[in-house]
Amino acid sequence: MFESIKTATRGKAGVLVVAHFSGEGINADTKALDNDGSIAKATKRPDASGDLGNVVEIHDSNGYERVLLIGLGQREGFKPGALRTVAGAAGRAIAKAKATGAEFQVCPALNKLKKADSVDAFTAGAMIGEGLGMLSWRYDDLRGTKTELTPKIKLSVQGCCKQFLDGVERGLGFAEGTNIARTLSQTPPNIATPMWIANEAKKMARKSKNLSVSVFSGKKLEDEKLVGHINVGKASENKPCMIRIEYTPDRGKSKKPIVIVGKTMSYDSGGLSIKVGGGMRGMKRDKDGGCGAFGAMHIIANVIKPNRPVVALLVSAENSISDEAYRPDDVLEFRNGTTVEITNTDAEGRLVLADGLCYACDKENPEYVVDIATLTGGVVVALGKVFAGLWCDDDELREKVEAAGNSSGERVWRLPHDPQYNAMMRSPVADILNSAPVREAHPIQGAAFLSHFVQDGVKWAHIDIAGTHASDKEQPHMIAGPTGFGARLLAELVERS
Ligand code: BES
Ligand code: ZN
Ligand code: ZN
Repeated sequence: MFESIKTATRGKAGVLVVAHFSGEGINADTKALDNDGSIAKATKRPDASGDLGNVVEIHDSNGYERVLLIGLGQREGFKPGALRTVAGAAGRAIAKAKATGAEFQVCPALNKLKKADSVDAFTAGAMIGEGLGMLSWRYDDLRGTKTELTPKIKLSVQGCCKQFLDGVERGLGFAEGTNIARTLSQTPPNIATPMWIANEAKKMARKSKNLSVSVFSGKKLEDEKLVGHINVGKASENKPCMIRIEYTPDRGKSKKPIVIVGKTMSYDSGGLSIKVGGGMRGMKRDKDGGCGAFGAMHIIANVIKPNRPVVALLVSAENSISDEAYRPDDVLEFRNGTTVEITNTDAEGRLVLADGLCYACDKENPEYVVDIATLTGGVVVALGKVFAGLWCDDDELREKVEAAGNSSGERVWRLPHDPQYNAMMRSPVADILNSAPVREAHPIQGAAFLSHFVQDGVKWAHIDIAGTHASDKEQPHMIAGPTGFGARLLAELVERS
């Protein structure tokens, strides 16, 4: 779509973008831009519904080649997140017109909203920047000689005021982190091996003075007793590793770090408990928790720059099959002394996450730990692709995650921890099973399993993104495919902490 998007304060844009609410004309502040009356006239057209994302094009209007009149939807209960859809609709029309400059004057339409619904210019700009940036994402790296690529446009964005353009810059930064996560997710498993992902992390760190990366592989995994990695990754030629990405602030170095643990399975075949009936297709995206964490670190280092350390542990392996594979009936003893009887090698994510959680509690002295994972098919049944599952018994942390979810648009819904679910995970041989024989409450079983690897007193949130990490439907501001879920949510969480 767009090769690049930059903000600009000079020059005449070819396209003007204005907005109106459902069933309304343009308000007085937008009318002030409408010297020749052509926009007001267009609001009388039958297609000028004002529904969210509706586009009316007006040619040769007010000295612009085109004016785009975009619908904001219902005035009552308007949420800033709707502006991502507005950006998506406008961006598509801008790209179709092959325009290289667009002036966004959507803030005038947002004046005089009820106090509870009011949106400041910075936030409006951030939503527009995010929407345009996410709309731009394509993955064409692997197109060969038989695909003709459509040329991309360099877009410059102008706005109503400095605050709006500052907001656009923030939104573009959030979109960049999200798009990095989407590109990693889309990269196929014959390229995106655990060590390849580690190298990508090193490349990112070289571009940012506040980021550093260390990689635990081979003997280091043994030294640190990261037995989940070692066992889940045993059958693959593509060796497992734990990738530690650290953000060190200029100020506030001595504060406790926030620690993010991301499930980063470069491929999940199920292992010896092999996935059947098409269940394997798409499992290149079983790394998306780690991809979200990776994207979040980019946003944290480049946009948020918090005055506290942040560490991401990407727990990475390929769940494959060979005579070396770990098997159902194996018993593993984890770093914290917990023994686990393997009943299903397809419940592998929780084993590598267990390493990450133990390590985070033992070695990182965390302010809190949040893990993010494509953990269970069951969460897709429960919540679909609308909300990610959230488990968090610390009220303060949970409220922060929920608030970050609502403002980033990457929303979470709470599910319970309870001793009765923990009881379902008991093993007749070891301490616990990795997968209970009954399928009921499956996502909650996963959370119950993970709770054994979080030290008492450490604040912890678990987020299951098996539903939200990819979309099969095109959205106004996003094509179908990986969503980069978690990058914006986690970045906002850090900002709120
Ligand atoms: N990676 C899958 C979960 C998943 C499912 C991710 C759908 C994305 C989309 C996970 O490792 C898995 O296989 N879970 C099993 C566990 C079961 C076999 C114990 C599941 O949820 O069915
Ligand atoms: Zn699995
Ligand atoms: Zn998996």
